[in-house]
Amino acid sequence: MVGKVVQKGMDMGAAGIRFLLNDQQVDLADMPADAMLLDFLRETRRLTGTKEGCNEGDCGACTVLIGQLRDGQLHYAPMNACIRFLAQVDGCHVVTIEHLRGPGGALHPVQQAMLDHHGSQCGFCTPGIVMALYALWMVHPLPTSAQVKVALQGNLCRCTGYAPILRAAQDIAGDPAGDFLAAERTTIIQALQDMAQDAPAAGAALRPRDLDQALALRAAHPDAVVVAGATDVGLWVNKHLRPMPQVLHLSQIAGFDRITQTADAITIGAGASYAQAAPVLAAASVKWMLKRPLQWFTK
Ligand code: FES
Ligand code: FES
Repeated sequence: MVGKVVQKGMDMGAAGIRFLLNDQQVDLADMPADAMLLDFLRETRRLTGTKEGCNEGDCGACTVLIGQLRDGQLHYAPMNACIRFLAQVDGCHVVTIEHLRGPGGALHPVQQAMLDHHGSQCGFCTPGIVMALYALWMVHPLPTSAQVKVALQGNLCRCTGYAPILRAAQDIAGDPAGDFLAAERTTIIQALQDMAQDAPAAGAALRPRDLDQALALRAAHPDAVVVAGATDVGLWVNKHLRPMPQVLHLSQIAGFDRITQTADAITIGAGASYAQAAPVLAAASVKWMLKRPLQWFTK
């Protein structure tokens, strides 16, 4: 499968939205600025394994994995497709529950653990929970209870109860290094790097690649709504039905999400997520606390 992982879709021009969806390349032109990823997955692609619950980023039923290149490395994170603009996944790898597979077409180890521990009743939350646990397992194959709780804090289950799900999360077999996404990593990185060569998109969804382009587009389109994460603006679209004729996305600006550390300062890019910043801040606060008693003793 690795050699065939990226099947080219219909090329509709460099100005459109281009991303990998599971093992397919998607090329879209002339999408409205308020097109949302979840609607595209369910209504256009009929990938209905990804569920719509709250449609406001609270329940996690719509969780998918988004793989992004950062400094040449591919990072996957679970995200809510309901409040993700389609333009925000331009240049990314979107992985849905339909793509999960174990060796030889068996259940994926995450799915198997959920089955073994009776972690699903009605099943509506299950695809989102599986995707959240998959993202955790790729980084922490033997997670602590605290890591599991953090990983699932955006996923609601209304009927199973959480105990079986928590037990499943700590009993996932297999080695992430041998997982299918790990095996396909080189091909996916190459495909995403090829997409990054495309010209920045114009039209309804403006996606500057650097700060100069962002400032120029802002000056030329002062009425465009500026979007970084979309946790608020996604609700303007889904709940307030507010017209969104043009959006200026900041998520593709190189280095905008970079976090750098020196001996006495941490600089967090305005596009960095809380999840990126949290471990850096936690490590720094531990160092700070370790230093304090020494300072008190030496006063
Ligand atoms: Fe509830 Fe997306 S549908 S978070
Ligand atoms: Fe029914 Fe979780 S299994 S909501």
